[in-house]
Amino acid sequence: MQLDVVTLFPEWFDWFRGQRHVTNALAAGHELRCLNPRAHTPLSGGQVDDTPFGGGAGMVLRVDVMDAALRGFYGVDPVELRGRRRVLALTPGGRMLDDRFVNELAQEEAITLLCGRYEGFDERIIQHFASDAVSIGRYVLSGGELAAMVVCDAVLRKLPGSLGHADSALEESFSEALGGDPEYPHYTRPAEYRGWKVPEVLLSGHHAEIRNWRRARSRERGASSGGGSLS
Ligand code: ADE
Repeated sequence: MQLDVVTLFPEWFDWFRGQRHVTNALAAGHELRCLNPRAHTPLSGGQVDDTPFGGGAGMVLRVDVMDAALRGFYGVDPVELRGRRRVLALTPGGRMLDDRFVNELAQEEAITLLCGRYEGFDERIIQHFASDAVSIGRYVLSGGELAAMVVCDAVLRKLPGSLGHADSALEESFSEALGGDPEYPHYTRPAEYRGWKVPEVLLSGHHAEIRNWRRARSRERGASSGGGSLS
């Protein structure tokens, strides 16, 4: 998969790129590129944003700058680009990211993530250049970079080769394998610590019983967190 992040702060991704599952994914042939719209701005002095029409605090990323940047990177009109690859605009009011959405994105061959800054995007960027508006939660971050990293992280770890154990991403919280419920609790050695014992069944070696126990704990967590089960 090719993940392109359009950001005014590409250096934020240097740390992310160095994380183990990301280096694994890159070694397996996936790509993570950062594209800086400032490199293509038609405005003088590297200007990329402007004050909002109608007044108000903060600055808004300009539509003409994003147009020039996407044309510069991809050599096509961005209105056409979103028909060729998924273009996600990160914004607090977008479609909420969840495991189902991540699975959907993990099927794509190429994704572009647009990071807003300051007060966000000119709405026409979302309307005309993006295929999806994506939110990672109902709160406001200072920009889309951390949200884009969350999306990239969640998607990359679904791709073969990025996690150490082939099954690690299959049976985890909110997956279909767990009926959309949170994951069951995990324990490791020591089997008893300060009198706190690991549930007996996990030490029993009875795989079917362990599976049943885990599924039941998962369901309980789903019920108590108010998250709906898929099943
Ligand atoms: N940009 C700022 N806040 C955001 C959020 N919660 N989700 C996605 N993008 C954002």
